[in-house]
Amino acid sequence: MIHADIIRKEKISPTVFTLYFHWNATVLPGQFVMVWAPGTGEIPMSLSHLGKEKAFTIKNYGQTSDKLINLEPGERIFFRGPYGRPFSASKGKTLLIGGGSGMASLHPLIKIGSSGLIAARTKDELLFMDEFEAGKVIATTDDGSFGIKGNVLAGLKQLDLESFDMIYACGPEIMLYSVYNHLKDMKVDAELSLERMMKCGIGVCDSCSINGFQLCMDGPTFTMDQLRYMNEFGSEKLTFSGKRVKVP
Ligand SMILES: Cc1cc2nc3c(=O)[nH]c(=O)nc-3n(C[C@H](O)[C@H](O)[C@H](O)COP(=O)(O)OP(=O)(O)OC[C@H]3O[C@@H](n4cnc5c(N)ncnc54)[C@H](O)[C@@H]3O)c2cc1C
Ligand code: FES
Repeated sequence: MIHADIIRKEKISPTVFTLYFHWNATVLPGQFVMVWAPGTGEIPMSLSHLGKEKAFTIKNYGQTSDKLINLEPGERIFFRGPYGRPFSASKGKTLLIGGGSGMASLHPLIKIGSSGLIAARTKDELLFMDEFEAGKVIATTDDGSFGIKGNVLAGLKQLDLESFDMIYACGPEIMLYSVYNHLKDMKVDAELSLERMMKCGIGVCDSCSINGFQLCMDGPTFTMDQLRYMNEFGSEKLTFSGKRVKVP
């Protein structure tokens, strides 16, 4: 288990915090680590900052994430990794499509000059908007409190998607599934980062399986061609106890 001391903590929305720490390792955009909160649990987490100073940007969902975001500078964070297949290197004009805390895994790609489409329920949940170059980002909010009123589709319709050389997307599965359906007949290269229950993170427990792929080893990033053959994408997943349920 790797450990690092938290050097800084920033509140970036009412429910999302970024925890900075030093870790001398190479991690590529799209990879993740398993973060351990002793006595509570271990959860998969992308790194939102990949320089010498690294960071997790964590949304408060439940028990483990709540414990992590309540850590303070000087306290220790434990994790193992990095794991998973990174996004492939971008070539040319890049678009990032992020929903909610999915923007954490896309954050390292903003600085390559990417454009952005950020989707959230409400203005407070739009992450990292001000880090894009001027005029390169649009937003949608379900409640219309900022940007275009509606879900991610309303934003996709405003963009000339085939003008991008590469599209990277990360967010809730329902959002990613709409992105996939909107893009699937277009001439665009896209990679989507999926979420599944992860227990081991190293290809042993199979809790993250999707149509014979293991998300922790073969993903979490998948190409449009791979997604075409995954009928469980947007439809079924396993719970922590291994029960197969419908994707909400
Ligand atoms: C590859 C990957 C990268 C991620 N990166 C980030 C990130 O950068 N920032 C961020 O805020 N969140 C990220 N998540 C989501 C994060 O792992 C879950 O929000 C977290 O597991 C919630 O755990 P909890 O105990 O706080 O909540 P709980 O109340 O226990 O669970 C809430 C929901 O979180 C999901 N969840 C719980 N445990 C796991 C688990 N072991 N594996 C996968 N999902 C789980 C389930 O859908 C569950 O219904 C990532 C998930 C994956 C798979
Ligand atoms: S999390 Fe155990 S096989 Fe992927």
